[in-house]
Amino acid sequence: MKFPDRDPELKCKEEPPMATRSVEEKNLVGEAIAMPSPLTDLTSMADLTPAMAAGLLELAALVKARPAEFRQALAGKQIVLFFEKPSFRTRLTFESGIYSLGGHAMFVDQLTSRIGEREPISDMAHNLERWVDALVLRTFAHSTVTGLAEYSSIPVINALSDYEHPCQALADFLTLQEKFGDLTKVHLTYVGDGNNVAHSLMLAAALFGSHITVGTPKGYEPQAGVLELARKIAAGTGATIQVVNDPVAAVQGADAVYTDVWASMGQEAETLERARIFHAFRVTPELYAHAAEGAVFMHCLPAHRGEEVEAAVIDSPASVVFDQAENRLHVQKAILLQLLGGAARRQPARSF
Ligand code: CP
Repeated sequence: MKFPDRDPELKCKEEPPMATRSVEEKNLVGEAIAMPSPLTDLTSMADLTPAMAAGLLELAALVKARPAEFRQALAGKQIVLFFEKPSFRTRLTFESGIYSLGGHAMFVDQLTSRIGEREPISDMAHNLERWVDALVLRTFAHSTVTGLAEYSSIPVINALSDYEHPCQALADFLTLQEKFGDLTKVHLTYVGDGNNVAHSLMLAAALFGSHITVGTPKGYEPQAGVLELARKIAAGTGATIQVVNDPVAAVQGADAVYTDVWASMGQEAETLERARIFHAFRVTPELYAHAAEGAVFMHCLPAHRGEEVEAAVIDSPASVVFDQAENRLHVQKAILLQLLGGAARRQPARSF
């Protein structure tokens, strides 16, 4: 382990959120954004303190506004991507992001054999730490991500496991910040399966002091341990975390309505059963009408129109799904910069 487990509540009290200044203000002084404490891996949203999470969004906004200043920030860095599941957005945003920072990406297709099958994860970790600078992992088992993080001395990034999808949640909260400003005033509702995306959104809401309601059918709620951890973090940030089983109550007054596919990768055999169970939780114009005036619609994609969301909602002007997808790129660049020390290698544009 690179650092011991910590008490998130204690950290919240120790580290107040960073003072926020605009990207333009930061650029005037050519200031590099520095985290208040080191980040060694991103296996879970819970690896972050509230201040670290706020700092990542600040850095992502700066990278988004001024990409040219980070063109050489990861020069000489080699990053390997191991993916056990298919991906469109995650693979391409990591590869594009790494190259645009001057680094080199290597993709290893693990679709036909899982990591750790051919040799122990600890042996893989001790090989990889001698060859490359960071690992990006998309896995079935979350223990594969935490195992490689435990045994290797290089940073490990969770690009989706069965437990969490932290890169997605950070991009989603950057999108909410762009749309609404102060995240402590935002009420996000997630309806559908209490899956990895729901877990990361709950933890992210807790870290950012936001208000989240998760609406699921009975038996499909998020894991109790995640709810407990999110509420523990929320106690220090003012966030609220609710889990309900009524889709209308969940959506009532929400600033953002979020959903995901009902059967995640690996659950395809349950597709028909889940379609019946989740029917009342599909985001129709009628359900969406219970959200607040000006509410946005969110989805991590890929989406199944006619299943978890109707085209009239996802293809409406209220939909911010492509902003979310774009922000995957900027947030992941910020994560890489932070983990590999690249923010300090920013070359601010001169102002005359
Ligand atoms: N949202 C997301 O992770 O997309 P991909 O599965 O296409 O990477």
